[in-house]
Formats: sequence, C-alpha cells, structure tokens
Amino acid sequence: MTRKLNSLPEPPGNKGLPFIGETIGFFTDPDFNSKRLAKYGKVYQTNIFGNPTVTMVGAEANTFLFRNENKYVVSQWPKSTSILLGDLSLAVRNGSFHTSRRKLLYQAFQPRALASYIPTMENITDEYLQRWQQMETLTWYPELRNYTFDIASNLLVGTDGGSQTPLGELFETWCGGLFTIPINLPWTKFGKALRCRKQLLKYIEAIIIKRQQEDSLREDALGLLIDAKDEEGNSLTLAELKDQVLLLLFAGHETLTSAIASFCLLTAQHPEVMQRLRQEQQELNLSSPFTLENLKQMTYLEQVLKEVMRLIPPVGGGFRKVIEPFAFNGYRIPKDWSIQYQIAQTHKDREIYSEYDRFLPDRFAPDREEDKKSFSYIPFGGGLRECLGKEFARLEMRIFAAKLLQNYQWELLPNQSLDLIAVPTPHPRDGLKVKFRCV
Ligand code: HEM
Repeated sequence: MTRKLNSLPEPPGNKGLPFIGETIGFFTDPDFNSKRLAKYGKVYQTNIFGNPTVTMVGAEANTFLFRNENKYVVSQWPKSTSILLGDLSLAVRNGSFHTSRRKLLYQAFQPRALASYIPTMENITDEYLQRWQQMETLTWYPELRNYTFDIASNLLVGTDGGSQTPLGELFETWCGGLFTIPINLPWTKFGKALRCRKQLLKYIEAIIIKRQQEDSLREDALGLLIDAKDEEGNSLTLAELKDQVLLLLFAGHETLTSAIASFCLLTAQHPEVMQRLRQEQQELNLSSPFTLENLKQMTYLEQVLKEVMRLIPPVGGGFRKVIEPFAFNGYRIPKDWSIQYQIAQTHKDREIYSEYDRFLPDRFAPDREEDKKSFSYIPFGGGLRECLGKEFARLEMRIFAAKLLQNYQWELLPNQSLDLIAVPTPHPRDGLKVKFRCV
C-alpha cells in the first residue's frame, strides 16, 4: 500500500516564491483558484501561508475530507488565524478536546435556545430598520456589521449595543489580521491585530468576571460556558472562557454580515426575485412575534437565501492538515501538507449547477433541487467541523429578511463599485450604498 502510494505523483501546480509561496496572489487575485482549477483540474498544489498546500475541489473531494476527519486530516487554520483565535479556541483544537467543547457549546444553538433568541433578534432588527429609514441614504455594509455584532454580543455574552463599545472597534482591527502573513511588527496588520487581541481579552475578561459575580445565571452562551463542567467535572478556566467567547463573537458576525449584505445586493439587482419575495410575505401575512415554525413557512425566502450563499459564500473554503498520507484522484498527498477545501469553487461546478454564475433561486425549488449530490452545497462546511452556529445564522437571516421585505424598500445608488472584496468575508468595495425607505 505504502509502496503504491509512493509511486503516485504529487498533484500538479506551482510552489511560488521561497517563504511566501503564492500567498500574495491568493489574497490579491480574485480568480486565484478558478485559474488554477482551469489549468490543473480539481486537485492542485500551491504554497500559501508558508505551507505546501493541496487544493481539492468538488463534491467528491469534500465527501472524502469530511468523512476522513481525524483519520487522514485534522482542522488547521492559517498560522495568523490560529494565533489570533488563541490556543484554547474550539476552532483550533482537534480530537477529544474539540468533541467535548463542541458538545458543550452546542447547547447555545439547540432549538430551545434558538427560540429564546427570537425576541432579541426582532427588537434589534426593528431598531436598525427604523434608524436606516431615518438616514434615507446610507452605506449599508458597516451598518450591517454593527447590526450583527449587536445581536451576537447581546445573545452570546449579554452585552447591549456591543458595536458602540470599544469591543466593536477592537474587533475590526483584530479581524483585519486574521488571514495575513504572521509578521508581528507595529505597522503590519498582524501586529496590530495581535495588540487588539490583548485588549479584547481584557475586555472580555471584565465581562466574564462581572457575570461570575452575578447571583442568577443567565441562559445565554456565556452563561452556559461559565456553568459548564468538562468530563472530569472541572469548570472551564478563565483563559479558555476568553478564547471561546472571542471565537463565538467572531464567528457569529463577520460571516453573517457578508450573507445579509449579499442578500440585500442580489435582491436589489433582481427585481423579479424581490417581487416574488414580497408576494410570499403578503400571502403568508405573518407578523411579529415570529416563531421557528412560522419562519419555516417562508419557503421562497429560504430558496433565495440558499442561492445567495451558493453564489457568494461568506466563507470561501477551509483548511486541514494531513496527518496520514493518502491517495486522491491518482495523486499522493503527503503528510504534514495543508489541504484547502473549496466552498466557492464547489458552488460553481457546472456539472451540478446549471448556469452556475447566475442568481437563480429556483434551482433550489422542490422539483429541481440541484444540490442533491452529497456535499455539493456546503456554505457551512460539513462533517465533524460543520458550522456550529448554522441554525443561529439561518434564523437571524430569515428574521432580518422577512422584516425588511414586509416594510421597506431599498435601491442601489449609482456611481459605486459593487466589486467584491474577499477578505475577511466578501463585501462590495464601496460598502453598498443604498436609498432606503418605508414601502
Ligand atoms: C452565514 C453565516 C455563517 C457561515 C457561512 C459559516 C460558515 C462556517 C464554516 C464553513 C465553518 C467550517 C470551517 C471548517 O470547515 O474548518 C464554520 C465553523 C464554525 N462556525 Fe460558522 N458560519 C456562519 C455563522 C456562524 C455563527 C452565527 C456562529 C456562532 C454564533 C458560528 C460558529 C462557528 C463555529 C464555532 C465554528 C467552528 C466549528 C468547529 O470547529 O467545530 N458560525 N462556520
């Protein structure tokens, strides 16, 4: 078996320059992956973030990787990301520690917890919608960032108006360093982000200590974490609590901001879709307070949100590390190399998606369901590391979209660049400038 594996070639591709490899191209060229896919096929090598890396594209590759977690591969984030997330973060840990923390954190995302989040999500959404109506014209992306951050900080750590506290600003600089070459100098993005991490942790520590001193325990994610005991009956240390909170705040808002902004953009660009969405809201005639059940009735909205995340997935792909060499598609994938699975390219597979580059929500209608093949639609990843906050994200998107469609109109303003910047998550270059008013 080993001899057979050794006789196989490495995947085709280019290692790039010494040390930095092809990292600069990876960041600056929006077609980095599609060009290599066209040249080499669905498995190719490159060198990014200082690691030899194999990119594996498509439903078969995703199935292989998600089913062989902990056998051939384990999760691995780029060095900059894992340093900034912290050693104890669930996202950077593997094996039994990961399993135990995932189980624990999942309690904050189970249906009963989700249902209890609806009133807060609705209130914060109403406040922002009224604010935007008063503004009349606005640059939406930074507003949406504040909106999702306020929801995340309220529901996950019980802090009101998080975007207006130092947390909001620190977070922005910290996020700027997540996917960079990890050189810690005062002027590098990574260096600045590392300093922000220290300040963020101090801030989070103060929130935790205040909460630990409260008499009654609140049932948000932080409450669960403070109260939690691991398998040996030990509480989580303060250092770990801080890393897990930082992860949740990050994961709970950057990605969602991108998804919501893309929904606003694509519906503004497709009046026929907007029209059908409004019609569905009128026919259902549901108003606040929403429930998990009545939100499920918005089936066309669901198709549209699904198509938004197919066409502009908030997370473009994920990273793994090879722990045991393996063969895939006739190539040898060596131990210790990095693997990148590709969400964005999987969603553009012409064999799966007809007219893959068009925004066509009907591709997910019950009689078509173009994503039937396993792991051909993976905005939330898959397998053991599938997004923990998937249902939280879907809930917030539906509440936001339903309220927006029921009561408001939005139009794109002229003279703005709608080109998408990919890092940290896709968003229009000029921040999505719109005219906003009541229906
Ligand atoms: C539209 C919104 C979102 C998208 C597209 C998204 C996407 C993803 C993806 C692709 C992964 C897997 C990364 C990998 O394979 O290595 C992931 C992991 C994760 N997500 Fe999300 N996410 C979203 C929202 C959220 C929210 C709202 C939360 C929490 C409040 C959250 C918490 C997490 C956590 C904790 C992980 C790590 C899971 C693990 O390593 O076991 N995400 N997310």
